[in-house]
Amino acid sequence: MTTYITTPIYYVNARPHLGHSYTTLVVDTFSRYRRLCGDDVRFQTGTDEHGEKIVEAAERESVSPKEYVDTISDAFRKTWPLLKIEPDNFIRTTNSEHIKTVQNILQKVHDQGDIYFAEYAGLYCQGCERFLTEKELVDGNCPDHQKPPEKRAEKNYFFRMSKYQDWLIEHIKENPEYITPERYRNEVLSFLKEPMEDLCISRPTSRLTWGIPLPFDENFVTYVWFDALINYLTGIDYPDGPDFNRYWDAAEHVIAKDILKPHAIYWPTMLKAMGMKPYKKLHVHGYWKVDETKMSKSIGNVVRPDELVNMYGLDTVRYFLLREMSFGLDASFSSDAIIARQNSDLANDLGNLFSRSLTMIFKYSGGVVPQQDESTLIDTDRELILAVENMLVTYRKSMDSFNFHLALRSVWEVIGMLNRYIVTNAPWELAKDPVNESRLHTVLYFLAECLRIIALVVQPVMPDASAKMVTTLNLEKALRSVNLDTAATWGLTIAGTKLNKPEQLFPRLDKKKKKQAQAPKAEKQKKKDIAPKEEDGLVTFDAFQKMDLRVAKVVAAEKIKKAEKLLKLTLEAPEERTVVAGIAKYYSPEELLGKSVIIVANLKPAKLMGVTSHGMVLAAKEKDADGNERLVLSTVSADIAPGSRVA
Ligand code: MSP
Repeated sequence: MTTYITTPIYYVNARPHLGHSYTTLVVDTFSRYRRLCGDDVRFQTGTDEHGEKIVEAAERESVSPKEYVDTISDAFRKTWPLLKIEPDNFIRTTNSEHIKTVQNILQKVHDQGDIYFAEYAGLYCQGCERFLTEKELVDGNCPDHQKPPEKRAEKNYFFRMSKYQDWLIEHIKENPEYITPERYRNEVLSFLKEPMEDLCISRPTSRLTWGIPLPFDENFVTYVWFDALINYLTGIDYPDGPDFNRYWDAAEHVIAKDILKPHAIYWPTMLKAMGMKPYKKLHVHGYWKVDETKMSKSIGNVVRPDELVNMYGLDTVRYFLLREMSFGLDASFSSDAIIARQNSDLANDLGNLFSRSLTMIFKYSGGVVPQQDESTLIDTDRELILAVENMLVTYRKSMDSFNFHLALRSVWEVIGMLNRYIVTNAPWELAKDPVNESRLHTVLYFLAECLRIIALVVQPVMPDASAKMVTTLNLEKALRSVNLDTAATWGLTIAGTKLNKPEQLFPRLDKKKKKQAQAPKAEKQKKKDIAPKEEDGLVTFDAFQKMDLRVAKVVAAEKIKKAEKLLKLTLEAPEERTVVAGIAKYYSPEELLGKSVIIVANLKPAKLMGVTSHGMVLAAKEKDADGNERLVLSTVSADIAPGSRVA
């Protein structure tokens, strides 16, 4: 079989956090699982790099959009290996091949009459980068971004999405597994009961230039969703690359519920308009929350994957995320929960089982898997075989339907049973009397055989722990070139195999570590003393005191090459320093000379377009009713010496 499985391509307005990591981990785990089943698998992820959000984020950092997207896209690419996530392709929407293909598709859909020009007025959420309907609002706010959308009216190009509404309803009804879990399928069908509006697919260049130019009108760029969704095709070299023919029919997308509508409605109708087969499946999961709130950069409660891996180890993080979330529902992240899983499921249950079993094989059988003696089999052994066989059925069914937590639960049931099997059969008692030798060997064989199967089924979730188990059990050769069908059946462990000395699989987290581990719970807590307190939005006096605000006099100012928005200021505060400010749109260098501005003087130096900035100039920004922005520098109301502290 062939599997083509994708993550969303992530916006580069934020560095990767646990939410992005979860989806990408799910896809990595599924890919590893399907490979274990013998599939030809292609796993794709990437970054979504156009649109207003990106321009704004670049502006905030005072760098060009290109420089900005390169940096953050790279941060995503570099995060995945830390989690042992191994995509086959990492796509970027600023890649020239992608741009060319998006333009070809737009031209085709335009030529066949499915794109038209019209005026539209509506409620636009910048966070979602789309118009929202009144119905979607909660207390007047976008439910995902907790902000009211803004009214917008402008002339734009529209995709005749409504033309494909009936076809889409039919398709979803005829294919019960097209959108899973079922609650999301129902949500989409219920949404489709209302007449669908056409989709605005352009943005005027007067407002946004950071996008793919429409091939039929240079005054517009492509709406970021129309551009982004096409990544699933350009990543496999649509329309005529060999990978396109090989993988498209098998395409499955994994997303969280925030982007259900673009994937369940825009994307299939776009494909239909292009004369293409719809993708095969859409898998939708819930949110990771911290303290009951969705983890997101805009809310500021993010947990970083690299910190988690440093703290708890790769396999623990992977196991925790997949075991703790029921796919489709929301889950809560907390340090306590991850420590509990580590100590109980991993160190206690699996870790202990592994080390006890290996220690006994070394002690009672010289580190060699003994021969089982069928004549000594008793009911507990038969129950164990049956439990392992049942587990394999549940495991595969659950993995195939993205119920990773159920797959793991079924494996842990067997682990629990094995720990009890050891107690019931008490090999240390059997070893006391040589008449029990064959029974002892059977028990030890059963332990080795079950560990082999466990090492295999945990591999997609915990590749490192599985590899350690495989090495210790000396199974590398035996498992090479096998798949789940052939390798997971009972009785393949070869008696006589010499085992390697066991290493500890998972350490227990002691109290000291636990203390440290709780510290980076979420970013906002780590920075508690400088960030506003969540509940009241207030900053402590101590936190404010840490900020060194100074009066500084502009002694020189100049534009920075290739950076339209930036000015390089030479300031006296009282010592001379260079500060780069994103104010070129609002001030000319000349009018700044001699002005006394206010700066944050103890900001970490940062390089912007090749110039190192030692501080930040403060300014006030406002937007008028027409949406025009104005910026005014903060100054002092009377003459005061440069370098004076502002407090
Ligand atoms: N760029 C679009 C997707 C275009 S796909 C053609 C986008 N990007 S995003 O950076 O906002 O990523 C959204 C996705 O990140 C979610 O659908 C989910 O996969 C993941 N998550 C982000 N925050 C999350 C949680 N708090 N919890 C779970 N997943 C989350 O939307």
